[in-house]
Amino acid sequence: MSEHPASTVHDIVILGGGSGGYACALRAAQFGLDVVLIEKGKLGGTCLHQGCIPTKALLHSAEVADAARDGEQFGVKSTFDGIDMAAVNAYKDGVVARLYKGLAGLVKSRGVMFVEGSGQLVGPDTVAVGDDTYTGRNVVLATGSVPKSLPGLALDGSRVINSDHALTIDYVPRSVVVLGGGVIGVEFASVWRSFGSDVTIVEALPHLLPLEDEDLSKQIERQFRKRGIAYELGARFSKVEESATGVVVHLENGKSIEADLMLVAVGRGPVSAGLGYEDVGVAMDRGFVTVDEYCRTSVPNVYAVGDLIPTLQLAHAGFGEGILVAEQIAGLDPKPIDYDGVPRVTYSDPEVASVGITEAAARAKYGDAVTTVKYDLGGNGKSQILKTAGMVKLVAVKDGPVVGVHMIGSRVGELLAEGQLIYNWEAYADDVATLIHPHPTQSEAMGEAHLALAGKPLHTHS
Ligand code: NAI
Repeated sequence: MSEHPASTVHDIVILGGGSGGYACALRAAQFGLDVVLIEKGKLGGTCLHQGCIPTKALLHSAEVADAARDGEQFGVKSTFDGIDMAAVNAYKDGVVARLYKGLAGLVKSRGVMFVEGSGQLVGPDTVAVGDDTYTGRNVVLATGSVPKSLPGLALDGSRVINSDHALTIDYVPRSVVVLGGGVIGVEFASVWRSFGSDVTIVEALPHLLPLEDEDLSKQIERQFRKRGIAYELGARFSKVEESATGVVVHLENGKSIEADLMLVAVGRGPVSAGLGYEDVGVAMDRGFVTVDEYCRTSVPNVYAVGDLIPTLQLAHAGFGEGILVAEQIAGLDPKPIDYDGVPRVTYSDPEVASVGITEAAARAKYGDAVTTVKYDLGGNGKSQILKTAGMVKLVAVKDGPVVGVHMIGSRVGELLAEGQLIYNWEAYADDVATLIHPHPTQSEAMGEAHLALAGKPLHTHS
């Protein structure tokens, strides 16, 4: 497996082979650095095996189910005869397996030494895996996160489940309570509704996707209601009891909801307990490893990346952090990450996509100098063709750059790359308004919104 004997001092020893860890390994190997990558489960981590990839496969099956159900809207005779969950899971697992094979091949071809096993930090430069030790001039902690629960709420994996369990169930529940209206809750609610379940989301804060711009949260609430997804907002969970057919979920507001099962989606917590981090002096805060803007921990030459640090818990943020660390170790001078400039997408139907800051955050930062534009997808030709509703909302500084791009509608995640360039290059309305967007595409909505922001709307009433 390795060209390097275990006794050598390696350039980098990475603990955790998820998005943050393997990106660091791949980038470091490009500089000819000698890298050890230690992983207790499967290379690819949460994103590939329990997160981004399998859930997006489920969401694609959900979209196909809706297309079958709605075919007649487009003159196509079709019927929706139900979900074959075994086939859905086989499709999902096939996607994961192919990507896993590709990733394993890539890591090997870059000359990274892959070690399968559970590692522990036993010194500031040394990780032990069983009886073997791996010493590095640099150590990167990348042990990721796992689903959290609430205090006193035990998960049995069949009636009260988390997102890991939800990916393995082999039937479509008749009814589900989704506890938590964040990204995971909203995505699973969307899948199950398309598969035919009755779904109720319970969210403690006043809106679904509470971190998004409020206009987007309100719009997804309207669209979910139309799809028959129920939700309780500003509602706190009290307790769950088993019933003859499933569970009864009690809320603090006195309501109770019966369902086949309850998904707990109240956030993910870092994997750091018992791994020796604190013993070697790595500063921690509530289980997260504390880092500076260069992902450096309190111990020299020990870095941390990915869900283990209190930044955005997104695979692509982990990629960015892994690359940032590899480039520093290689002697480059990379810039710290501007986390507002990291794009965020919730892949539900409709999708919600954003980059930059919300209107509320902009008003807190820039006061009256903030201006906004909302472009309704109803005026966009391609959106009419697709029969999708939604909007593009821009948040900008008057006579200044665009500081937030927020979108809702089917597949708007695919449009976000332009928003990311706009935000990260600090573009002004006119810079984008003068670009000719291809017609008819949903990307024109981005052009139209900027035309309106620049005071020269084309297909909107001024
Ligand atoms: P989250 O933090 O996004 O949402 C959890 C929600 O649960 C919050 O809205 C919170 O107010 C609510 N909540 C907490 N306690 C509650 C209670 N007692 N009763 C009712 N509601 C309660 O966490 P989530 O959705 O579990 O996702 C974890 C991480 O994974 C997030 O950082 C997310 O960004 C990431 N992720 C990203 C995806 C994407 O990029 N498409 C997909 C899935 C997850």
